[in-house]
Amino acid sequence: MSFVVTIDGPAASGKTSVSRELSKRLGCRWVSTGVFYRGIAYVVHKRNIDPTDEKKITDLIRAADWDVQMDVDTTRFFYDGQDVTVEVHKEEIGNVASKISSLKLVRKELLEAQRECENSRGLVAEGRDCGTVVFPQAEVKVYLTARSEDRAQRRAQEQGVKAEEILEHQKKRDAQDSDRKVAPLQIPTGAHVIDTSALSLDEVVDRLHKICQDIL
Ligand code: DC
Repeated sequence: MSFVVTIDGPAASGKTSVSRELSKRLGCRWVSTGVFYRGIAYVVHKRNIDPTDEKKITDLIRAADWDVQMDVDTTRFFYDGQDVTVEVHKEEIGNVASKISSLKLVRKELLEAQRECENSRGLVAEGRDCGTVVFPQAEVKVYLTARSEDRAQRRAQEQGVKAEEILEHQKKRDAQDSDRKVAPLQIPTGAHVIDTSALSLDEVVDRLHKICQDIL
């Protein structure tokens, strides 16, 4: 049966781990839509393109040889036939991704490719605007949040760096993602809002799985 579950929220709110685990329990596809922005940001960075040059980046999206693949555990990005998934997750690339994702035409260009992730097996999609823009018709919408200190702590553990270093970047990125004019990070109408600060991964997934079982 085809269905879409969207999980939006700020950086390091637990979206990726939660959505991946939920997709396994539901036996459906999973996509981390941030990988589209991160991947293009990687190419922008590699080619020394100005991250505010909307025209150049849009042309690049159309012309460059890139592809996103949905594995069960990782949303992979390929550029020129090379798997650059690890590189696109670096903090530096995340910051460029946040910049280019504020460009209207860049978002428009990537929208169709994101929508094509849906198929008859069902889809869990995570990002910033999945419930508001990419899949406004989604059967289940979720918004995850967490205290900024807890989020920075999580990212720091993943990357083996100090939480203070992350916190600074994270605040900037949250502001950029929330204040942009096009598809800003916001709670979709009708979304289930969950604060993950005091919850384990399993607790969050259990709650969401229950919600999905009741609705789908
Ligand atoms: O979730 P993430 O950290 O991988 O996302 C990287 C950047 O991509 C994030 O700062 C904002 C942007 N993004 C977006 O604008 N819309 C999405 N649906 C997903 C990510």
